[in-house]
Amino acid sequence: MKHLFTLLFAMVSTFAFTQNNPDFFRLGSLPYAYNALEPFIDAATMEIHYTKHHQAYVNNLNKALAGSKYEKKSLEEMLLVASRTGDAIRNNAGGHYNHTLFWNVLGVNQPWNSEMPVAKAITQQWGSLDSLKKMMNQGAMTRFGSGWVWLVVTPEKKLMVCSSANQDNPIMDAMKERGIPILGIDVWEHAYYLKYQNKRNDYLGAIWNVINWVEVDKNYQKALNDPFLKVIEKDAWIELKDFHKVMAQTFHPAEEGNFDPIRLRATEMVMKGEALKNGKLPASYDSPSIRKALEDLVKQAKVVQELVSKPTKNEKIMSELTKVHDAFHVVEGLCKDE
Ligand SMILES: [Fe+2]
Repeated sequence: MKHLFTLLFAMVSTFAFTQNNPDFFRLGSLPYAYNALEPFIDAATMEIHYTKHHQAYVNNLNKALAGSKYEKKSLEEMLLVASRTGDAIRNNAGGHYNHTLFWNVLGVNQPWNSEMPVAKAITQQWGSLDSLKKMMNQGAMTRFGSGWVWLVVTPEKKLMVCSSANQDNPIMDAMKERGIPILGIDVWEHAYYLKYQNKRNDYLGAIWNVINWVEVDKNYQKALNDPFLKVIEKDAWIELKDFHKVMAQTFHPAEEGNFDPIRLRATEMVMKGEALKNGKLPASYDSPSIRKALEDLVKQAKVVQELVSKPTKNEKIMSELTKVHDAFHVVEGLCKDE
């Protein structure tokens, strides 16, 4: 009786924990039966892939997040900073996101239709669906080891094909090619080995029979209008990030009375500012007001450079450095508004 009570208490506690923990990721339901994609993808592969591999990414993500500073972040927020989260979060957040997309873009009886917006965009950009297949299959075949091949909407709202290692994807800051993936093909051996063994090429030939083009088209249209695309665009603006780094690493110590960093790095700040001003501005940030703000930022950084090149009181440096900091926040603010 006592044991029964303990068991019941444990069950209720577990239930309460999962209900009260909003940060708990869960495996979504598979939108079709394990055998729905036969004979192209066999039921055993589907079942193991979904119930073991994907489930493990979800479990390990929850484990890695417990007590970490990323606990309250969305999956997308974690992916954006994947280069800094550590491997456990990077691999498992990627694994969860990538597989969720993968199940969504597979299916039967949802064929390519040349009237779909995504079909028109593919045809306009690459000539035909066959060209896309060739590019993606080539990307998958040349991906050494485990990884993915992607069809992506870029911040310029163009389509792009790229591949990634492990569970990385183009949302991640760790990748050079950035954007929102709308179709992904899993080229880990666990996705095909039971049926195709080492013949990745045969798996790639087969999988195009079970692409759910209705879902790919929905993903395409959603991505085009997704504000997250602009977040990725800004995140991929390397010169802005570089300037931000030198700004933070000189301004904040100065606020606390340490002027060594700015005395040492004022020239670097000017150079990073010039790189930012003269570099290619991301399309949706290229406006007269942002260009003007960048001019001001460089001008002000040069004032600080001049001051630290000769004996100058800290108070004077602080007041001019604060103006660089303000100018940077004008740029940042404009990036948010426009
Ligand atoms: Fe997989």
